[in-house]
Amino acid sequence: MKSTLDGQRVAILGGSSGIGLATAQAARDAGAEVTIVSRKPQAQPGIATHSADLTDPEAVADTFREVGEIDHLVYTAGEPLELMEISALDRDRARTLFGLRYFSVLDAVKAANVTTSITLTTGIAKDRPGPGWAVAASICGAVEALTKALAVELAPLRVNAVSPGVVRSPLWGPDAEQLYSDVGKTLPLQRVGEVEEIAQAYLYLMTQPWATGTILTIDGGTVIA
Ligand SMILES: NC(=O)c1ccc[n+]([C@@H]2O[C@H](COP(=O)([O-])OP(=O)(O)OC[C@H]3O[C@@H](n4cnc5c(N)ncnc54)[C@H](OP(=O)(O)O)[C@@H]3O)[C@@H](O)[C@H]2O)c1
Repeated sequence: MKSTLDGQRVAILGGSSGIGLATAQAARDAGAEVTIVSRKPQAQPGIATHSADLTDPEAVADTFREVGEIDHLVYTAGEPLELMEISALDRDRARTLFGLRYFSVLDAVKAANVTTSITLTTGIAKDRPGPGWAVAASICGAVEALTKALAVELAPLRVNAVSPGVVRSPLWGPDAEQLYSDVGKTLPLQRVGEVEEIAQAYLYLMTQPWATGTILTIDGGTVIA
């Protein structure tokens, strides 16, 4: 069992931006053979790309037919947080929001030929939800429960998840400095996170041979503040 990524094959679904891209670059720098998958991945030095819309189960299956056997699967694909107060519930929209961050994860885990670890992405919305976060928090809770259930069902394959707090990334759009500043002031560490800091958590979970069913929170102290 290898506890380094040197020579390991890693597929990162949602690896073209933000947390996924930082993880892809860190894994590549650690010696891994990395493939990133998203709708429109930009070429990256030393990283293979594959285009797929992960909300299409057939596209997910095709992706893994092409990528072949991998050592580690990382799933970071996601969309901007969409608030929805329960008084304004749009049931179809709520169902759609579960698509990419929950049902496509099921598709990917089913289709992947993976030998060593799967690392999923949840978030601290499940621990510290604000008003309007009911659906977003539920998605995070579902991914956390899924992580633990898969860790049991797929053992000895290891299945873990990273739970980031607010991180500076394209997810929040180009005009998010005020949000970062406002959120940062409320945290024990007095700032939001950087994608490279979250990437370290994915690398740790890929290479820690006795971690499974673990939800690794990296949030500058958000959940204890
Ligand atoms: N940033 C934060 O503060 C934060 C905090 C907690 C949790 N999270 C979660 O962490 C994950 C990553 O966030 P991030 O900040 O890295 O977001 P990001 O920079 O917006 O990256 C999202 C990635 O998902 C891909 N993607 C989106 N829709 C897709 C689709 N239909 N099919 C395939 N790929 C798709 C995007 O690539 P394409 O556009 O090329 O498809 C991109 O690579 C998300 O689930 C997010 O909710 C983020």
